[in-house]
Amino acid sequence: MAKTQKKPRFTARTADRHQLYQLSVQAPDYEVAFLNRVYRAAYDHRPLTMREDFCGTALLSAAWAKSHPERRATGVDIHKPTLDWGRKHNVDPLGPAAERVTLTLGDVRTKRPGKFQIVNALNFSYWIFETRAGLRDYFKVVRRSLSRDGLFLCDAYGGWESHQPMLEPRKIAAGFTYVWDQNQFDPITAHVVNHIHFEFKDGTKMNKAFTYEWRFWTLPEIRELLLEAGFGQVLVYWDRAKSEDQESYRPSTRAENQPGWLAYIVALP
Ligand SMILES: C[S@@+](CC[C@H](N)C(=O)[O-])C[C@H]1O[C@@H](n2cnc3c(N)ncnc32)[C@H](O)[C@@H]1O
Repeated sequence: MAKTQKKPRFTARTADRHQLYQLSVQAPDYEVAFLNRVYRAAYDHRPLTMREDFCGTALLSAAWAKSHPERRATGVDIHKPTLDWGRKHNVDPLGPAAERVTLTLGDVRTKRPGKFQIVNALNFSYWIFETRAGLRDYFKVVRRSLSRDGLFLCDAYGGWESHQPMLEPRKIAAGFTYVWDQNQFDPITAHVVNHIHFEFKDGTKMNKAFTYEWRFWTLPEIRELLLEAGFGQVLVYWDRAKSEDQESYRPSTRAENQPGWLAYIVALP
């Protein structure tokens, strides 16, 4: 009798690219805990209101609302199909807590009413703004939507390997491979093109599931633009962990050069 082979859970034909993305690059519970930690370092009380800019599928907004019965989240994204996916798969399943999540379709640069204790822009999404004026204008919009006890969190990556064309595969426990394709870097404009591909155990592939065209911004540029946009204090949280398999982000003013790094920027009004 032929052995029955277990069907691989993910294959290119049936896999959902948003689900693959969430499993590969998002860690919403970690991010909620991190937001809580950096906020309490600044203000010593519990943050309740959060806006997630470039929210995509709003996974973080959903985790925020789930983390405390008084927490509210607003996710903003320009792409309706992605927001709809997020509402169906991440927000609606929250049950009653879903009422504390608002999804807003539109450009993050649009001035909207409402003040938030936390605004965040994660996974480098704000690098979509490729001029100093464009990025400063976005930071100004963020600044005016923060409450007096407000905080903006974004992230950045760098290191000498971040300028090199390379493929960086990483096995994901759910049973597929995530491939970060650092495809192009222009030294004159700092314009970068990156792709995300997925590869599956049955040999099938999902090429260019996501493509990002960004300006590669450095930490001093981001810090200067935040200050120019009116923020009063900008902190860089640098990973101070002793071993590579741990993370310990702490406010830092100097760092050793590294081949590849990720840092968080915290800006206070
Ligand atoms: C890299 S995804 C980020 C998803 C999620 N925030 C995360 O941390 O993984 C970038 C998202 O930004 C959205 N986006 C791009 N330009 C935008 C804009 N000007 N205003 C609002 N959303 C925008 C895209 O539709 C996309 O969903």
